[in-house]
Amino acid sequence: MKKIIIIGASSGLGERIATDFARAGWRVGIAARRMDKLETIRNLYPANIAAAEIDVTAQDAVKKFYDLIELIDGMDILLYAAGTGFYDPDMEDERVTTTLDTNVTGFARITAAAYKYYKSTANRTPGHIAAITSIAGTKGIGVAAAYSASKKFQQTFINALEQLAYQQQVNVRFTDIRPGFIRTPLLDPEKEYPMIMSVDHAAPLIETAILKRKRVAVIDSRWAIVNGLWRLVPQRVWRHISLKW
Ligand SMILES: NC(=O)c1ccc[n+]([C@@H]2O[C@H](COP(=O)([O-])OP(=O)(O)OC[C@H]3O[C@@H](n4cnc5c(N)ncnc54)[C@H](OP(=O)(O)O)[C@@H]3O)[C@@H](O)[C@H]2O)c1
Repeated sequence: MKKIIIIGASSGLGERIATDFARAGWRVGIAARRMDKLETIRNLYPANIAAAEIDVTAQDAVKKFYDLIELIDGMDILLYAAGTGFYDPDMEDERVTTTLDTNVTGFARITAAAYKYYKSTANRTPGHIAAITSIAGTKGIGVAAAYSASKKFQQTFINALEQLAYQQQVNVRFTDIRPGFIRTPLLDPEKEYPMIMSVDHAAPLIETAILKRKRVAVIDSRWAIVNGLWRLVPQRVWRHISLKW
């Protein structure tokens, strides 16, 4: 039985992907802070899902992560889907700090722990570290500066880990998933977002990218075009563009 651990599985994309993998017969380890939500998800497929309360910003996160790997007896794939972000034109200190604690410190803590796990399992089977980053990491979005920068950090960290794995001959693959806007609890339900996608549309595309071990996947094809165009925009022009969040 293949095994996947999903950090940030109590709502949104992580929840949906966890239930899809469990339904497909995978053993799934789910983690987040809200244990009541995780229990509800676990009860849908109790034979396939194990749950653990993990706060990625806490010092004990790595120990709890390793305990969860042991509980499901291994990890073929880590999916880091935990994340937070805010519409934050006023750059509120608490919002900036929470975003960086979760998306930078928590992300680095868990993905580094996964890398070390794969390094120590002597390359019996290839490991796989996947993370949901964002198209926000391509350029800085003014009203979500900390979030944008945290997503760029994640993308760079994955690139660096891939190079390290090559140097250290650790058999691990990496998938960087970069979605555009998706209607999940992360977004303000009152706000309108351009080219917003449903979870029903985005989740299967993300799952295919993971299963095909794509290195980078922009979700979806329309966002891939937008993202490609963004890359061509020089900063002196970019600063005049007003993006909604
Ligand atoms: N929705 C979008 O438009 C969009 C676009 C691009 C990228 N993304 C990325 O997709 C990922 C999933 O987000 P989503 O849209 O599915 O939003 P979501 O429904 O808010 O899910 C976020 C998940 O992260 C978990 N989480 C937050 N802080 C945590 C912490 N300190 N420790 C452990 N888990 C934590 C939450 O669980 P608890 O609160 O229970 O801990 C929840 O399960 C995020 O990385 C997000 O940046 C989303």
